[in-house]
Amino acid sequence: MNQYLTSIDNPIETVRYKGLTVKLLATGDGTEVIHHLLEEGARWSMQPQEGGTASESIFIVRGSMKVTIEGETKVVSPGDVLSAAPVQHGFIFSAQEQTEFIYISSQPVFQFFSSIVRENQELAVEVALKDGYTAEHCKRIMQMSMMIGEKMDLSPDDMCTLNYASYLHDVGKIKIPKSILLKEGPLSEEEWKEMKRHCTYGKELLEETDSPYMKASAQIVEQHHERYDGKGYPNGLQKEQISPLASIVSVVDAFDAMTTDRPYRKAMSLSEAIEELKRNKGTMFHPEVVKIFIDLIPEWGKMKQGV
Ligand SMILES: [Fe+2]
Repeated sequence: MNQYLTSIDNPIETVRYKGLTVKLLATGDGTEVIHHLLEEGARWSMQPQEGGTASESIFIVRGSMKVTIEGETKVVSPGDVLSAAPVQHGFIFSAQEQTEFIYISSQPVFQFFSSIVRENQELAVEVALKDGYTAEHCKRIMQMSMMIGEKMDLSPDDMCTLNYASYLHDVGKIKIPKSILLKEGPLSEEEWKEMKRHCTYGKELLEETDSPYMKASAQIVEQHHERYDGKGYPNGLQKEQISPLASIVSVVDAFDAMTTDRPYRKAMSLSEAIEELKRNKGTMFHPEVVKIFIDLIPEWGKMKQGV
């Protein structure tokens, strides 16, 4: 017999991740009922699975979320139900206030989700520990990249890919020896060569994962140090040869690095960093991305102060 009583306070299992609390309430015969709590500004995605045939529905209980369906941005609120059977394209939801919804799937997704989260978190934490950058840096890059992606009207699938790629852009640094990664003085030519390999290492790591979007993000991670004028690395790609998603990560990453204190130098002021972006527009950075980013800077400022 498979009867049991659970509740939001007493779920079968809970996973917490980036402003998102996910609780498994019921499971049996493949079907799962999962409660989600999103903090304001947090994002959640419903993604196609490889070979998946699940029928999936979400029922909004409280709050409101923005979602793009077939190119149209809508707001879902309590009482709304969104269903897909199966999910063919990713949906990205962003909570406009604290939001709760119930997610019902005809195939198990909870373990898949929790293993992706674990994988994602472990990778990001490992980089943070090694590189000296905090997880906050990864989170800021992700939030800002997603804001630019929204302004550029990226497809929901691209938004899902950008979500992973921006958070894990430096994941390849896991494979760089600490003696190089944390060296205080300037790097030798050989060491610099190894350091630059973090793009390729990151691509290889993400290609090995189970999530289709993490796999798709491999190419973006590989390209995040390419330059618009073709003088970047690892492949010296230029202009349209570079994915627009990689151009987004590159601008945001550079700006965050400029405006963050590092052990060996003080942070630039906001206006100095903006000048630096403008100076390198069209050479280092994609001009359109720089333009959109500069328009978003007031929001970026708020985020850095934790407002
Ligand atoms: Fe990097």
